[in-house]
Amino acid sequence: MKIIEVKDYNEMSKKAAEYMLNKIKSSTQLNLGLATGGTPKGVYEELIADYRLHQTSYTHVKTFNLDEYIGLKKDDSNSYFHYMNEHLFKHIDISLDQTHIPLGTNENTQAECEEYENKIINAGGIDLQILGIGANGHIGFNEPGTSFQSRTHVVDLAASTREANARFFDRLEDVPKQAITMGIQTIFQSREILLLASGKAKQQAMAELFRGEVTESFPASILNQHPHTIVIADEEALQGVKKTTNSI
Ligand code: F6R
Repeated sequence: MKIIEVKDYNEMSKKAAEYMLNKIKSSTQLNLGLATGGTPKGVYEELIADYRLHQTSYTHVKTFNLDEYIGLKKDDSNSYFHYMNEHLFKHIDISLDQTHIPLGTNENTQAECEEYENKIINAGGIDLQILGIGANGHIGFNEPGTSFQSRTHVVDLAASTREANARFFDRLEDVPKQAITMGIQTIFQSREILLLASGKAKQQAMAELFRGEVTESFPASILNQHPHTIVIADEEALQGVKKTTNSI
């Protein structure tokens, strides 16, 4: 794991977008794994700004999102389908059939999970996965205790995760209790991973990640074993983290 320490959220977003744009421009085919939530919003703004300025094309890019809430319709303003359209897809030249997000309204959730996993495999796997991190170390919606061998599956969201995400909903009761998420193994098989973290709320998670112990009780810890993971985090998130020789 390498760390790139940046000043603040803005710089984190710019660095991550720059990294992604280099890949997008230098490849003829690219499978991008995408995240939602507060962390990547700035990255998507940078990608949109670049598109307006340079018309960087996404016609050769396929996207696979990490997760979706169960029970929210695509057009629900809190669905991740809606989030991705609003924050990225509708602003760039990607056709919606190149974009993939688990369907939270498929009543056969098991079939949905299997189909999603197969879509990733059939596309040749993920080249570059963008990740945020939960305060409890979750990646995707893989909460502490999830098997490192897990593939796309249904999860019960931790109370702390529902509380953290309640800021996007009118009321805590409106936050769905379940989601579909790529599994930890699905994420781990990405050829490259960019994990982003900004602000005080991520300090403990960063300290735990860089302590280096690999344990299912802290899902992101598996990234310590991933050959090509870069963490881009700001000064505030990295306060209290002892930088190793791997820092760049
Ligand atoms: C989002 C996702 C989650 C978030 C994490 C951090 O698709 O899978 O793991 O990355 O909950 O959320 P924010 O960025 O809102 O702090």
